[in-house]
Amino acid sequence: MKNSVLACCLVFGFLLFGCDKNPYNQGEFLYGNFCANCHMDDGTGLETLIPPLANSDFVREHPDSLPCLIRRGIKGRLVVNGKEFNTEMAGIPLLTEFEITNVLNFINKAWGNDFNTIKHVDVRVALKACE
Ligand code: HEC
Repeated sequence: MKNSVLACCLVFGFLLFGCDKNPYNQGEFLYGNFCANCHMDDGTGLETLIPPLANSDFVREHPDSLPCLIRRGIKGRLVVNGKEFNTEMAGIPLLTEFEITNVLNFINKAWGNDFNTIKHVDVRVALKACE
């Protein structure tokens, strides 16, 4: 009896804490901490200053350039959904390969986005370009 209560608690504990560690949830958490203050909680960006990630053709069409964009930042002219942006995003070198994968896959599926999932190995290869 004691054992089954214990087993039950363990299973429940794994479910409770395990859920928080799934890649999508980690991506969402990272997004909230590192991206949302500029790109907004709903991914819509900010007028002409910050481009959107929700429904962004740039995100959909340039998946391979995104890992380096996050790590090293980007500046200069950029067109997203036909609108021109010309500001600067600082790189976030703190994020690991896995964290970049998870935050990108959160974006790929958030806010109605239905973009392809990026694999961790592809993020690793892409990051070689900006080592
Ligand atoms: C300090 C504000 C700021 C933060 C924080 C920030 N960005 Fe950006 N981001 C920008 C700006 C500004 C641009 C446009 C740069 C330009 O015009 O060249 C941009 C561009 C982008 C683009 C390409 C254009 C688009 O909208 O499709 C992506 C993708 C992107 N950011 C993802 C992220 C992710 C992921 C994070 C968090 C890990 C993040 N950004 C954090 C300001 C920010």
